[in-house]
Amino acid sequence: MSDLESLRREMDRTLRPAGERPDGSTMMTRRVFLHKSAIYGASAAACGLFPCISTIEMAFAQGGAAFTFAWLSDTHLYPKELNSRFVEKTVRAVKEIQAMSPPADFLIFGGDLAQLGDPVELRLGAELLSTLAIKKVFIPGEHDWYLDMGATYSKMFGESPWTFDHKGVRFIGLDTVSRARDFWTSRKMSDKERMGHMATLDGTLGGDWAAVGSDGLKYLNSKLSDWPKDKPVVIFTHNPLYEYYPPWNFWVRDWKQVHEIVRPYGNVTNIHGHTHQVLYNEIGKMRSIGMLATSWPWPYAPTGVPKLTRPMVRADPGDHFDGVGWAAHTMTSAARVNYEYKMWRKDIFATARDDSGTGDNRNQVLTPRIADRP
Ligand SMILES: [Fe+2]
Ligand SMILES: [Fe+2]
Repeated sequence: MSDLESLRREMDRTLRPAGERPDGSTMMTRRVFLHKSAIYGASAAACGLFPCISTIEMAFAQGGAAFTFAWLSDTHLYPKELNSRFVEKTVRAVKEIQAMSPPADFLIFGGDLAQLGDPVELRLGAELLSTLAIKKVFIPGEHDWYLDMGATYSKMFGESPWTFDHKGVRFIGLDTVSRARDFWTSRKMSDKERMGHMATLDGTLGGDWAAVGSDGLKYLNSKLSDWPKDKPVVIFTHNPLYEYYPPWNFWVRDWKQVHEIVRPYGNVTNIHGHTHQVLYNEIGKMRSIGMLATSWPWPYAPTGVPKLTRPMVRADPGDHFDGVGWAAHTMTSAARVNYEYKMWRKDIFATARDDSGTGDNRNQVLTPRIADRP
């Protein structure tokens, strides 16, 4: 066993003592629902669309009022003239969020609004989202950031991190994308070249860019320290707050410190983008839920998925509306938070091992990620 594997297992043993699971006071089920044709008419329901938004309903037995909020992320917009397909899917998602009944209390946009951080793309995103009347909060994705190091995105959509309390829940939005190590200065790269490298999944030069950072960790610690340990906390991040697959930055490199900070808290949910796939994991008492993209589904990591993830079915690479669907997904802990992957494909979950996956790698076989292997 390599040193890295030993370290992963050691961390996992430390962070997830035997039998320790998230607090059951917030219960979670997954409901994936087929969009009724209220907005688009019957033809839209039949046309096979794409995963786009997830809704998290939270209802707390002890006094908190039930409410809903919407998540949208990874729209990866290009200028309209180059790609209208991603625009159409974003428009559809926005219309559906706007049509939610009862309405969502707010929208969290989870990053990767733009494909290459181009102000034209970001303005297009702002324009598409502007039709939503509800409150909107934003965290950045790496695709929004590395053309001008977040200047345009932060100016248009606000700085991260941020915190607000809503109906008994503390919401914290973190920036996990801005801390890439400088690979561009010594190579005399242009802004566009830097962005181009950061826009690749395997980030040959970007390396382990995803991180909460020491300032982010301090912020998280301070925002939790005055919050009761048993009350619900939801942390929004672009990257998952655990080690899923580092080569694609399906993690943050300081995930261990994150878990040390959240460990005393009994009811922490991390909701993240970037992975563009159905994903679920628990580390210690923290749940992590991966959200879908409107743009495309990424394949599952070749080293395996968290064992608590029920993998989505392999998408047909020839059908850009594929990769989606709806199904009941029951979690082991009890149900007080329901979240719905809003998709338009019927059977999203794989029923046979060979059907698993979301990419076009037909040889992909899903196994538990290294840290989950016995
Ligand atoms: Fe993305
Ligand atoms: Fe991303």
